[in-house]
Amino acid sequence: MQKYNIPCARSTSFSEYSQAKEYLLKQSPPIVVKADGLAAGKGVTVAETIPQALEVLASIMESRIFGAAGDKVVIEEYLSGREMSAFAFTDAQAVIPMVPACDYKPVFDGDQGPNTGGMGSYSPPYFYNSTLAKTVTEDVMEPTVKAMRQEGRPYKGVLYGGLMVTDDGPKVLEYNARFGDPEAQVTLPRLKTDLVDIMLAVVNNNLDQIDVEWSEDACVGVVMASAGYPGSYKTGFPITGLNDLDKDILVFHAGTKLESGQVLTNGGRVLTVVATGKTIAEARQKVYANIPRIHFEGCHYRKDIAEIKRGR
Ligand SMILES: Nc1ncnc2c1ncn2[C@@H]1O[C@H](COP(=O)(O)OP(=O)(O)O)[C@@H](O)[C@H]1O
Ligand SMILES: [Mg+2]
Repeated sequence: MQKYNIPCARSTSFSEYSQAKEYLLKQSPPIVVKADGLAAGKGVTVAETIPQALEVLASIMESRIFGAAGDKVVIEEYLSGREMSAFAFTDAQAVIPMVPACDYKPVFDGDQGPNTGGMGSYSPPYFYNSTLAKTVTEDVMEPTVKAMRQEGRPYKGVLYGGLMVTDDGPKVLEYNARFGDPEAQVTLPRLKTDLVDIMLAVVNNNLDQIDVEWSEDACVGVVMASAGYPGSYKTGFPITGLNDLDKDILVFHAGTKLESGQVLTNGGRVLTVVATGKTIAEARQKVYANIPRIHFEGCHYRKDIAEIKRGR
């Protein structure tokens, strides 16, 4: 990102603990400490104080809680703003933006509790507008695809940019090479063009000839999870009420299984219930009116997905 001038946080990498520690002692909080390798979604800490940052650094580089994934650590400037997931289809040349979404990782309302695979999402973000859309495409997505090409590693498919929209514009926190989950559940229902046509054009390098259309509707998705998730949980409980929903409600099955005609829970995140509406508020109202009709033992879900007054 630095090489290609793609907006991101200022950061420095270290493979020596003593140097990282010395550097950290000269920073002011909050500060972000990241294990460089894969850490099952637990590798990033936003430290509120320098002692906390030092403790995290030691656990990664000295105690090696992530093993070799912590051989290198990135110490990064804290960015404040609103977080958003942006997406684009690309055949390595053409870049077609998708609609963006916001997701909710912590398990409880008000972003409390441990992180999960995602407890819900909505699209479009309430703070999204055409100016932001243009900046994201021109300053992040297009330069990223171009940079990958110039690096001799052309990227095709769905590009996911995890962005912090700061007062200084959007900055990249991370990339993923896939649709986000649970973002896909609230972006794909808004897609009017056939996804197969888009993917074929990606494969055949003629994405520039495709006209991708999106619905203006807002979409809200809420995950219903098993008791105990994201910790340990039991499965095999009957799910009732799936046939009692308003007919425009979508239910995505994630952790379910069918046994002698009965749908049973079979995972931590069991279902995502999705509604569309003319506004975010309408979609939200529809989701939360339908969720109580679905039941399984111990089920829990966040009550504040797409709640605008939280300022998120
Ligand atoms: N520089 C930063 N400033 C502020 N928050 C950050 C920064 N980097 C990461 N975060 C926060 O940490 C979360 C996890 O970071 P991310 O890079 O998405 O890691 P993961 O690979 O675990 O998803 C982000 O969603 C964001 O909320
Ligand atoms: Mg992330």
